[in-house]
Amino acid sequence: MGDTKNRILFLTEKLALSPHPEGGFYKETYRSKETIDENCLPPAYTGSRDFATSIYFLLTSDSFSAFHKISQDEVWHFYEGSPVELHIISLDGKHKKQIIGPNISEGEVYQLVVPQNNWFASKVMEPESYSLVGCTAAPGFDFADFTMAERNELTDQFPHHEKIITAFTRV
Ligand code: GUN
Repeated sequence: MGDTKNRILFLTEKLALSPHPEGGFYKETYRSKETIDENCLPPAYTGSRDFATSIYFLLTSDSFSAFHKISQDEVWHFYEGSPVELHIISLDGKHKKQIIGPNISEGEVYQLVVPQNNWFASKVMEPESYSLVGCTAAPGFDFADFTMAERNELTDQFPHHEKIITAFTRV
């Protein structure tokens, strides 16, 4: 446990991570210098966006990433620690659980695409552990494209997923 705590402290400091509103800690590591004009983007975007962005994202087992959605596809990349359990509710209301982790012979994946506008939430699978992943978005991430789920609203929309929504929302 001491080793795990030390590793979390080391990663937080070395990668200069800050708290993310969805839970966990992050640091943006790439933002393209070129932008796409609003006129060239689908109507969902309320302004110009950078071509692409990437972050480190660290989640610890005493927390979770709450249901949220973004307007762009987001590619997750596994780096180290425990596998991550990712829950996706698609636009047609289907719930899917996928595991991003190092055990690819057991069906875990190193990379996973979360499709745009799908609600998603995640947690570290092993107790007293952490997961370090990367998240890459194109067009580049902007908080204007980010929506945190509200428990009652999401449950009204998807009543058959009440249990998982309750487990992965804070408000
Ligand atoms: N920058 C800040 N938050 C995020 C996020 O959730 N995803 C991506 N790709 N970039 C971010």
